[in-house]
Amino acid sequence: MEPMPQSPLIDGFGRRIRYLRLSVTDRCDLRCRYCMAERMAFLPKAEVLSLEELEAVADAFIARGVEKIRVTGGEPLVRRDVLQFMARMGRRLEKGDLKELALTTNATRLAAHAEGLAAAGVARVNVSLDTLDDAVFERLTRRNRLSDVLKGIDAAQAAGLAVKINTVALKGVNEHEIPSLIAWAHGHGMALTLIEAMPLGEIDEDRADHYLPLTAVRERLEQSWTLAPLMKSTGGPARYVRIEETGGELGLITPLTNNFCAGCNRVRVTCTGELYSCLGDDGKIDLRAALRGFAPARALDAALDRAMIMKPERHHFEIARGAAPSVARPMSMTGG
Ligand code: 5AD
Ligand code: SF4
Repeated sequence: MEPMPQSPLIDGFGRRIRYLRLSVTDRCDLRCRYCMAERMAFLPKAEVLSLEELEAVADAFIARGVEKIRVTGGEPLVRRDVLQFMARMGRRLEKGDLKELALTTNATRLAAHAEGLAAAGVARVNVSLDTLDDAVFERLTRRNRLSDVLKGIDAAQAAGLAVKINTVALKGVNEHEIPSLIAWAHGHGMALTLIEAMPLGEIDEDRADHYLPLTAVRERLEQSWTLAPLMKSTGGPARYVRIEETGGELGLITPLTNNFCAGCNRVRVTCTGELYSCLGDDGKIDLRAALRGFAPARALDAALDRAMIMKPERHHFEIARGAAPSVARPMSMTGG
């Protein structure tokens, strides 16, 4: 048996929280249409936590039994000192307090940082990539950066990082490219996970126009491929299959068509120290006040206890034509 921390984080529905997604910036060098408006209002810099504060947050969770930390954004690699932060988190890996340190990135700057990430102890990176077509990439992200992303992926693999591709499935955008994206990823030794677009944050268009249920995608893939269900679970929302023809793994994240909240093991913290116990809920706890107040360690601990009481049983996402997003804050605040 593994030793239990003195007081593990267990929510009101008996779910043990072992996984923290920590956003180090809400800024991004892309403007994916399903995520952000072109003129995105970012959080005020003065409110963003320092590296020391981010470390204190991470340590508070580690002390309560969190074993995995995923650093996210926005785009985490646009934060100037992020490599320093990763290196410091890497020391918690060496001590064994932390079991896994991961990163989610759009890979535009990954080529420059891949070696540093590997040296810090990062074992895997998730790269968000929705298309391999230059023109589609530029239209979707409003930036011409596909070649940088591909160089970033190469550099990550050369540095020994395991790379997984995350692809948001979008009707009329990348729908027809999904099989070739999967074949490309598997051909390069990478797993790929498809994600349904979620109603998070105001954007410049109607999400209903591009919403694509993965139930439909799966049916189409099954016409040419054999999808064998895999039993592995990361405690996350993804379900996995192996595609026999490619030999690679495909994940499916279906918050809209199939809800997996019952097994949720995670919470999220924004770069300004707001703790969200659920991606689909506005309930938050201000860790920055705890950090900058009297007796920070104790205040943080108490805040984590409050978050466990607050965590809702499930999200209630819905994408309806003309409707406001289910959740006002964009994914770039809590990093997925
Ligand atoms: N719905 C689904 N996925 C989203 N992402 C960003 N915004 C949304 C959204 N509204 C994705 C990114 C990245 C991951 C962190 O979340 O493309 O893969
Ligand atoms: Fe940036 Fe990711 Fe949002 Fe795209 S989806 S704009 S890469 S944060």
